[in-house]
Amino acid sequence: MTSAPAREGAVALVTGASRGIGLAVARALARSGHRLVVTAREPVALEAAVAALRAEGARAVGCAGGVADSGRAEACVALAMHEFGRLDVLVNNAATNAPYGALMDVDLARWRTAFTVNVEAALHLTQLAWRAWMSEHGGAVVNICSEGASHTGPNVGAYGTSKAALLHLTAQLAGELAPSVRVNSVSPGLIRTEMARFVWDGAEDQLAASLPLGRIGEPEDVASAVTWLVSDAAEWVTGADVLVDGGTRVRAAAGGTSPYAVHERLRAPREEP
Ligand SMILES: NC(=O)c1ccc[n+]([C@@H]2O[C@H](COP(=O)([O-])OP(=O)(O)OC[C@H]3O[C@@H](n4cnc5c(N)ncnc54)[C@H](OP(=O)(O)O)[C@@H]3O)[C@@H](O)[C@H]2O)c1
Repeated sequence: MTSAPAREGAVALVTGASRGIGLAVARALARSGHRLVVTAREPVALEAAVAALRAEGARAVGCAGGVADSGRAEACVALAMHEFGRLDVLVNNAATNAPYGALMDVDLARWRTAFTVNVEAALHLTQLAWRAWMSEHGGAVVNICSEGASHTGPNVGAYGTSKAALLHLTAQLAGELAPSVRVNSVSPGLIRTEMARFVWDGAEDQLAASLPLGRIGEPEDVASAVTWLVSDAAEWVTGADVLVDGGTRVRAAAGGTSPYAVHERLRAPREEP
């Protein structure tokens, strides 16, 4: 995907950016000219990520806090406005893949946490960005969903249901915020990050063989889709979901095996990611 450079002075807020997909997105957005506010809960890891981004030439500030903490979400948007005076891009990337297990056994308090972190926080941050800058000046929002939102599977029911809700939220907001703000999503397949380590670690050969494109994904595969979606190269794209899954879905549609199914076959049932 070819991306246009960021608009002069553009600022992006990326949640969950101390590692994995969020950090790769932050790096890619910095390279395309964005100034950055990056968030995560663990302050030491977040500061290390900010230092790494700055060492690569980015203008970046960190804002420690969980996305489901509404006071911290407000503080992070306020920091963008205070530090840079604008907020053009919001990437709702932070998420939890717990609780893991069958839905009949799910603890409802943990189910609610999954929905608060994976769905409600994305809405809240979009509201905050809209009120602070985007309603008047425009902008772009990208929600990181999941290839798993579109099908069922053992043990990932809470996660998949929350990501399906995020997919619907994306389409709904795209309609409500047009024409000034574009809202899209990216749905990754299996990506080499900590969150998915329990799936790929020690099973890469089998997983790669199960995928049409012959390898698991890297965070940069997702980042390049995000960078395109927020750029002017995608100025006529809203309400779209970009699938970045190495062909997982086409293989599954042809009766093949999903990475989670490979994982379940290779491993004994486990407690929690
Ligand atoms: N990896 C995959 O295979 C895959 C596949 C499909 C979709 N995704 C989606 O991609 C996104 C990124 O996942 P990832 O694989 O990059 O995960 P990761 O490597 O575990 O990184 C998650 C990042 O989010 C932060 N974070 C976690 N919970 C947070 C919270 N409540 N508030 C603020 N920050 C939080 C983490 O830092 P702290 O722990 O310090 O907060 C970390 O910076 C998620 O939306 C995930 O659902 C991943």
